[in-house]
Amino acid sequence: MGSKNMSALWMVAMVFVLLNIGLCNGGKTSPYVRKLYASEDLPKDTFPSPPGFNAPEQVHITQGDYDGRGVIISWVTPVMKHPDVVSYWAAGAEGKRKHKHTVQSVTTTYKYYNYNSGYIHHATIKGLEYDTKYFYEIGQGNSARQFHFTTPPKIGPDVPYTFGVIGDLGQTFDSYETLKHYMANPKGQAMLFVGDLSYADDHPHHDNERWDEWGRFVEKSTAYQPWIWAAGNHEIDFAPELEENVPFKPYLHRYLTPYQESQSTSPLWYSIRLASAHIIVLSSYSSFAKYTPQYTWLETELSKVNRAETPWLIVLLHSPWYNSNSYHYMEGEAMRVTFEPWFVQHKVDLVFAGHVHSYERSERISNVKYNITNGLSTPVKDPSAPVYITIGDGGNIEGLASGFVDPQPSYSAYREASFGHAILEIKNSTHAHYTWHRNDDNEAVAADSIWFFNRHTYPKEEHN
Ligand SMILES: [Fe+2]
Repeated sequence: MGSKNMSALWMVAMVFVLLNIGLCNGGKTSPYVRKLYASEDLPKDTFPSPPGFNAPEQVHITQGDYDGRGVIISWVTPVMKHPDVVSYWAAGAEGKRKHKHTVQSVTTTYKYYNYNSGYIHHATIKGLEYDTKYFYEIGQGNSARQFHFTTPPKIGPDVPYTFGVIGDLGQTFDSYETLKHYMANPKGQAMLFVGDLSYADDHPHHDNERWDEWGRFVEKSTAYQPWIWAAGNHEIDFAPELEENVPFKPYLHRYLTPYQESQSTSPLWYSIRLASAHIIVLSSYSSFAKYTPQYTWLETELSKVNRAETPWLIVLLHSPWYNSNSYHYMEGEAMRVTFEPWFVQHKVDLVFAGHVHSYERSERISNVKYNITNGLSTPVKDPSAPVYITIGDGGNIEGLASGFVDPQPSYSAYREASFGHAILEIKNSTHAHYTWHRNDDNEAVAADSIWFFNRHTYPKEEHN
């Protein structure tokens, strides 16, 4: 086809898109068209093991207690169990006698089909000082590796804190760009990760070497700031045809969470408090019907939230409740029906989900009046309801989901089929600035942004 014909077609397509924006019922469907790259995983050994015999690799940290004075440090040694201890010290304490402390890890291994894992270590440290930089070191001699992290400030209603938000990351060129963009922003202090990590299960026999590769890929961030993990469907790794019948086996061996600190009975759902935020992590792929452990735990946990201490109530889960993309449409509906009345009652501020490989932000809406017979089945504006953000646009082997339902539903405020990440800057007890950054722009450009007002302290309507 000639270039004249191509440009004519392009013009027609743009007019069609613009007309659609004008006609839709909801918010904005971005006409932005991203450049296309192949959605293939990067070649193996793009992120090789560090030099030195049996050097610790795939280092990652997450919060290790309820209130931010603990950290879980995890790593893998590929050949032998040692080193299985981590030493750590506060920055500036180097001149003091006995400035170093050591903690023994709990070590595990697993088999998956024809794969044998390395030695996976988890060391939990508690009783750290708030708002303090710590160094830590794993290994000895030419295999030793040193990292650092900063503990969060003490819990308090006006304590500012900045989160990154990424979902469905995978290990493609797009994934690489997403992480690079996030790390180019020095503001992010912790990552809210809404599930689907490595996409190892998209490879033959769920090639678990892809889990190792992913651990090395993200280490440049995960070793230095806590990533708060939620599990997605690509963590299930349930494969009876391979005689792998234990759901979440690789994920649960590799990614420990502080679930017992919030009286949860499963690492897949738990809660932490961090600065001025109470963060609840749910599992879309575990039982949540009435009377189940997750249901019972969430009911209790919501009753424990103290908005005077942590005004920001944030929920992470994988399968979105409000999504106007035909991809995975309504897969989160059963959980929405079960838990949404509680979210409205407790005035949850924000719900972050992944799963759908595009970006969407909702209005504050709820759909809790429907009782089968009354016909009240349409979502309505509700100032007590959360904003739902679908951010499964980390960039993975399965590519983008561009099939938005047309016209845009009234509950959808902004949507775009691009890869990216978000930054949530909590400023104080009333205001948080939120921005979404598509990979094709410089990090400084926000494709979507809004000031969120806290539902407990300042429940006014937001405008962007
Ligand atoms: Fe997913």
